[in-house]
Amino acid sequence: MTLHLTNPTPTDQALIEEWRDQDAPLLGVLHAFHDRDGYLSESALRAIAKGLRQPLADLFGTVTFYHHFAREQGGLQQPRVCTGPVCSLHGAEQLLNNLDDRGATSMPCAGRCDEPIPVLIGHEQWVGDATGRLSRKPTPLPPVNPGAIEECIFAFIRQPWRNTLAGYRVTGGYEGLTRAVTQMQPVDVIEHIRTSRLTGRGGAGYPTGLKWKAVAEAAGSPKTIVCNADEGEPGCFKDRAVLDYDPFAVIEGMTIAAYATGATRGFLYLRYEYPETLASVQAAIDDAYAANLLGERILGTDFNFELSIRRGAGAYICGEEGSLLNSLEGKHPFPRNRPPFPVTHGFEDLPTVVNNVETLAAAAQIMRHEPEWYIGLGRGDHAGTKVISLSGDVQRPGNYEVPFGLPLRTLIYEWAGGPLPGRKLQAVTMAGISGGFLSAQQVESATIDEPSIRSYGSMLGAAGMIVFDDSRNMVAVARNAMEFFAHESCGKCFPCRIGTQRLAERLDGQGPQEWDLWLEEVNDLSTTMKAVSACGLGMAAPLVVESLLKHFPEQVKGK
Ligand SMILES: Cc1cc2nc3c(=O)[nH]c(=O)nc-3n(C[C@H](O)[C@H](O)[C@H](O)COP(=O)(O)O)c2cc1C
Ligand code: SF4
Repeated sequence: MTLHLTNPTPTDQALIEEWRDQDAPLLGVLHAFHDRDGYLSESALRAIAKGLRQPLADLFGTVTFYHHFAREQGGLQQPRVCTGPVCSLHGAEQLLNNLDDRGATSMPCAGRCDEPIPVLIGHEQWVGDATGRLSRKPTPLPPVNPGAIEECIFAFIRQPWRNTLAGYRVTGGYEGLTRAVTQMQPVDVIEHIRTSRLTGRGGAGYPTGLKWKAVAEAAGSPKTIVCNADEGEPGCFKDRAVLDYDPFAVIEGMTIAAYATGATRGFLYLRYEYPETLASVQAAIDDAYAANLLGERILGTDFNFELSIRRGAGAYICGEEGSLLNSLEGKHPFPRNRPPFPVTHGFEDLPTVVNNVETLAAAAQIMRHEPEWYIGLGRGDHAGTKVISLSGDVQRPGNYEVPFGLPLRTLIYEWAGGPLPGRKLQAVTMAGISGGFLSAQQVESATIDEPSIRSYGSMLGAAGMIVFDDSRNMVAVARNAMEFFAHESCGKCFPCRIGTQRLAERLDGQGPQEWDLWLEEVNDLSTTMKAVSACGLGMAAPLVVESLLKHFPEQVKGK
């Protein structure tokens, strides 16, 4: 994928020609025009619609669905300020007001909760504060390992030059792929991953080996591997760290998945808000091609795999795999009805693996070892590790790789230093914000694994956790979360489209003023949304309100 920042101004025709014959061309061509002109003009949309033979009205609807495609001249250069749940605690609204004269707009969580407040200007990443002062984004430090545990994902991430091909190879990089393609049959690779008990790290936790097996056995070709790097869940920023520090691990994981399943093409779907990651992952892909680790006859075998990046344009729902596939195909990015599932009817209705960044990076490591090694990294009956993005009112926010089964208390109080001085922990969100809140008391007994977190009525999901101390108004926190869901609901089904709006309004003091009536209405909305929403967004959103009511009824009554 080319960022048209330095080209001498390619013509409409040249931009369309560059993309027209490629798979999944629409996002690429839209970004090419957007980068060239600084916005998507009416004439650009007409040219694209004609060039890709898409109805203009459809194209217009699709383009305006995404948050980051500017439709006014100069829009690309106007600041976008993160107003996600953590940045709101740090004065994001004030920053937004202070940048008003520059045409600043808000953006949902930008995936940099460990370094608030992120501001995007064009393709540059800045950091702002409530006073309106901006500075260039600092280079983040690599994740730390305060528990000195044996890691999988972060095992080599602190090694110098790990993000270069030479550095990656020094620390075991490509041993897994080499072993797979030169010593193992695809079916054995799948069995290896299945035996390791690796499950998806994007939220749903589906067994990776079973997903690969289903694609390998499905009829139809070409098959596709999609790396889901959309990471739009507020409070989640782990995939960015993996891609920034260890891009080859993800590329290697995708290539192993392709070998195992018989796929010949792949896309890494990267969220818009990570422009620096886009440049570095593209450089890594180019280097992998140059070293015959992608492309034709990989490592001298007859295995071929073509990989390219598609840049998202700002829409949380595009992390949901059906939406993502529709987005890739240039369609309106609504979730798809399931079944059928992507393993048989994915990209272009053909068998497709959709895996999260962390899942694929783990697969690359697991292929260097025996499956038992990975299982043994977990505690008790739990296999493996999980990267947790921890942010909010905690002394040392950041990404931490933990063994499954680690006490939640150990992570928050011992590894991350606990709440800020003089403060007490009030609540912690799970699954970004989709899992609602655990109370301070629950943090004392929960362990970091799906069964434990679910036993408290929540879910671990992709494992973003936001800490709130006793200075925070939890109703305001919940309202911010619900406004996010209302904003990001794709609108395909009405329980979610209307329910998220109504719940956000109820948390804002609107609706019945009598407590019993208010409660009845909120419970009614939540029950309906959970029962009949078409995808995980609408099913999960009520957890925020339910857990708020469960743990902080007095704050809700006094709202
Ligand atoms: C609303 C919604 C948002 C999602 N966002 C992401 C995301 O940003 N990244 C991701 O990997 N999975 C996300 N998922 C889960 C994906 O649909 C899918 O399960 C996952 O990418 C599969 O990869 P895995 O098996 O490796 O976890 C989301 C699901 C829902 C319902
Ligand atoms: S639940 Fe919400 S996000 Fe999901 S399909 Fe329905 S409207 Fe769209």
